[in-house]
Amino acid sequence: MNVVIIGAQWGDEGKGKIVDYLAHEAGVVVRFSGGANAGHTIVLSGAKYALHLVPSGILYSDKIVILGSGMVIDPEALFGELAALKEKGIDWEGRVLISDRAHIVLPRYKEMDKQVDAQRRKPIGTTGRGIGVAYSQKASRDGIRLADIGDEERLCNVSDEDRAFLAKWKDQLLPMSVNTGAYLHHHKNKWTLFEGAQGALLDIDTGTYPFVSSGMSCAAGAAAQGGIGPRNIDRILGVFKAYTTRVGNGPFPTEFADDSPGSLSNYIRTTGNEYGVTTGRPRRCGYLDLVALRYACIVNSLDRLVLTHLDVYDTLPEFEACVAYKIRGKLVEDFPASIADLEEATPVLKKFPGWSEHIDECRSWEELPLRAREYVQFIEAYTETPVSIISVGSDRQQTIIRESPWIRS
Ligand code: GDP
Ligand code: IMO
Ligand code: MG
Repeated sequence: MNVVIIGAQWGDEGKGKIVDYLAHEAGVVVRFSGGANAGHTIVLSGAKYALHLVPSGILYSDKIVILGSGMVIDPEALFGELAALKEKGIDWEGRVLISDRAHIVLPRYKEMDKQVDAQRRKPIGTTGRGIGVAYSQKASRDGIRLADIGDEERLCNVSDEDRAFLAKWKDQLLPMSVNTGAYLHHHKNKWTLFEGAQGALLDIDTGTYPFVSSGMSCAAGAAAQGGIGPRNIDRILGVFKAYTTRVGNGPFPTEFADDSPGSLSNYIRTTGNEYGVTTGRPRRCGYLDLVALRYACIVNSLDRLVLTHLDVYDTLPEFEACVAYKIRGKLVEDFPASIADLEEATPVLKKFPGWSEHIDECRSWEELPLRAREYVQFIEAYTETPVSIISVGSDRQQTIIRESPWIRS
């Protein structure tokens, strides 16, 4: 059985936590997009693990994790991350595989990424991890895949400096190489979880282009770049927060205008710890954007939604969510492609009463306060997508399962 998990907003929805939770039932976890720009956090009995390249199934000692062909891999970052895991007692040897079709991020890509973004009149605010450069090298057919690094003939166009870098990592990388499509085919009796990075609105095609990342973070990416065909996907889940955040630049219709101390924006950032895992940048905050969420549901065929950070609203007497945009006087309910339209959009907000109690110890739907359940039900009706999992805190255990995705319908 194959279950795909993606972010349904602008990243940082809590994908790492949910993938870790659901990986318990899986045999294999495949990360299918992005690179060291991602930051996926798992909290286990108070211990925090920040993953950037390694898939979020690594904490279970019996799981195989695969870095898929859609990923762009910085060997320095990868082996640094693996060394940090080892220090925390996670034995990863023999369990971490890398698609032979995955692309390598060279050190100069990171410099180029920073320089190019600094020269833009409207910078994207990239993470500086060389992601856009690696994907453009891939698209222009000048990239280097893992399968190429031992092939002298293939490296004939590569500079001495780049060759020296590849030679340095070759002996560590090559034993981890796997033909992902064949591997998953031969292990199709194992349940596999496909972990997306970034989110639907940061996807190169479905996102708020050009203020996006460069990989396929949409659900289709799991098929194109994870090693299975589209027909073999059984379930697609989209993770979203009770509110919205965004790091870096680009349109954000529900962003709070007031970010001063004591503001709601500030409260959410502090309570939700909304700081980037990769760059430490404060995340921009705003109310839940249901127009954008419904768009993510539609273009990704989301079967189910996973709601996280519901606990961050615990003490608010009331809050709002965006149910439409007003763009130059016109009511718009479909998420626009035009950046100018998104920048002009003012949210039409619906008010919800708060529940004014702590929900971090709730472990079932019935235990949630009525007003929290009503908020969830409104989201389900608006997006026409059931919310099957609710997260009420960062710890693995702080999770309410209404319906497991590991059930064939
Ligand atoms: P990802 O990139 O989607 O994996 O998300 P990040 O790890 O970048 O950011 C999510 C942050 O929220 C992390 O610090 C998580 O530990 C934390 N988190 C996840 N789920 C919840 C939740 O339900 N409530 C709260 N308060 N924090 C959560
Ligand atoms: P996870 O997987 C949030 C954003 C960057 C920037 C834009 C392009 O943790 O959800 P890039 O370095 O990819 O070229 O930057 O995309 N971005 C993310 N924002 N979460 C992420 O990953 C992100 N990965 C990239 O901030 O705006
Ligand atoms: Mg993140």
